[in-house]
Amino acid sequence: MRKPSVLMVCCALTLTLVGCTTSEQADPNEPIEQPTVSDTEKPAETPTDNETAPAEPAPEAEEPAETDKDEQPATEPEPPAEEEPVAEPAEPSQPIELNGQANLELDALVLVNKQIALPSDYQPADLVTANIDFVDSATGERRMLRKEAARAIESLMKDAKAAGIDLKGTSAFRTYAYQVQLFNAYVARDGKEQAMKYSAPPGHSEHQTGLAIDVSSASVGYQLTQELEQTTEGKWLADNAQKYGFIVRYQRAYETETGYMYEPWHLRYIGVDHATNVHKTNVPFERYLEQLMD
Ligand code: DAL
Ligand code: ZN
Repeated sequence: MRKPSVLMVCCALTLTLVGCTTSEQADPNEPIEQPTVSDTEKPAETPTDNETAPAEPAPEAEEPAETDKDEQPATEPEPPAEEEPVAEPAEPSQPIELNGQANLELDALVLVNKQIALPSDYQPADLVTANIDFVDSATGERRMLRKEAARAIESLMKDAKAAGIDLKGTSAFRTYAYQVQLFNAYVARDGKEQAMKYSAPPGHSEHQTGLAIDVSSASVGYQLTQELEQTTEGKWLADNAQKYGFIVRYQRAYETETGYMYEPWHLRYIGVDHATNVHKTNVPFERYLEQLMD
């Protein structure tokens, strides 16, 4: 698979279209071939083949408990404490998809990908504005998430800030109609084959679930760039997002399975228990769900 070389903005291109707020109608006078984009959202260089994949992260070493062989217990040794069972998330007992349509009954575990789509009129009922810092170009609905995900990203951002990690949201919820505009603009610019590597066709974007948000940091000018991976902020995200219920959905190692290039900025909310398991087992969400349903 061809790999992108440098910057590749994916999902958060906000077309600066007149009247493009909640109705998200394109201005017919705006030439779609040359969408006006803000600096933070400008799709970056065309990917090339010369990107070198970063080394696999070393698995976390388990610290062995210290033992002192010479020490004699004064009293009968306590029986070893029973290991605390790892909380297994309840199985959804639901099909992952229904003839190519997303199973919305899965709620926060809903699977949307290149093969599985949301209905064009789907919009979550519990969208709220996430009370976090966003880049200026993210307006209106694009600051919204489903309530649980909004609370989670607020908590993540608060702790990130306390740890000196400077992050902002760049794009959260997107309507089907907005994804139409976005995807068409990318296709017009890069051709469909390329666009499909970083942008979901309408109905196939996780942003329409209200459970996905793109975030970036000042250190990369709030661009959606793979360089985020090398920054303190990107590393913090990769190490901590699961504690708040998010996974970095499109990993470099999953490119073949997901069909999308690596997006260190795209966070998908699935809840803390599941996100912790996905992070620990390091598998694509698709595979995690399949295993969960087995
Ligand atoms: N960039 C992701 C794949 C999206 O467009 O939803
Ligand atoms: Zn995204």
